[in-house]
Amino acid sequence: MMEKMLIDSRFLFQRLASKYKNQVEWEKGRALFLSLEYRCQETAEHSVVVAFIAYHLAIQIIGETQTGERMFLAGLLHDIGKLKIPDTILKSDRIITGEEHKTIVDHVQSGYEALKKLDFGSDILQFCITHHERLDGSGYPHGISEKSIIGRIAPISDVYSALKLPRIYRPNSLSDENILKYLIENNHQFEGDYIHELLKFLTNWSSNHNISEKTFGIV
Ligand SMILES: [Fe+2]
Ligand SMILES: [Fe+2]
Repeated sequence: MMEKMLIDSRFLFQRLASKYKNQVEWEKGRALFLSLEYRCQETAEHSVVVAFIAYHLAIQIIGETQTGERMFLAGLLHDIGKLKIPDTILKSDRIITGEEHKTIVDHVQSGYEALKKLDFGSDILQFCITHHERLDGSGYPHGISEKSIIGRIAPISDVYSALKLPRIYRPNSLSDENILKYLIENNHQFEGDYIHELLKFLTNWSSNHNISEKTFGIV
């Protein structure tokens, strides 16, 4: 099922890239994403799925395709700061040290600064800077309770993709049912209404791929 989502995400990326061909922000975004893809395939795949989920959540929640398309671009670029993390940490399958953890945490701020330098819009910057924040203030880099729409879409999209895709240190991906359970159990960190929107989207999307709504076991 993950392959299907990656294919759909890539397909939407191609469609939007050709729709916005010669649009400066999209062209800059594509160039940056290509660098990320060459550097770390895993992070690129994670980012395109974040983009796909953020696109659909934004359209469902706000009701504007244009905002969804902006969220897609933001999702592609949200982890661009990881370009600054050395391979010994970025591609590591061992337990990382405290100092290395700090380098990982810094990817949010360095990504935000890079996107700002390159004159990306405030919506793209906001997605990047908030994607690891949590509603109860337990996130990073600022540990603030982020209540903007983008600041609530970004963490859910990021966590869904992070848990869905296999990682070096976690070869098996989690099922949608288990990811939704995780989000619901942690609804002090993630917006409950938006978790429900994610469930709605996954149910619709899966039924288009001939998977029963009962797959999720949660309604
Ligand atoms: Fe991140
Ligand atoms: Fe991410």
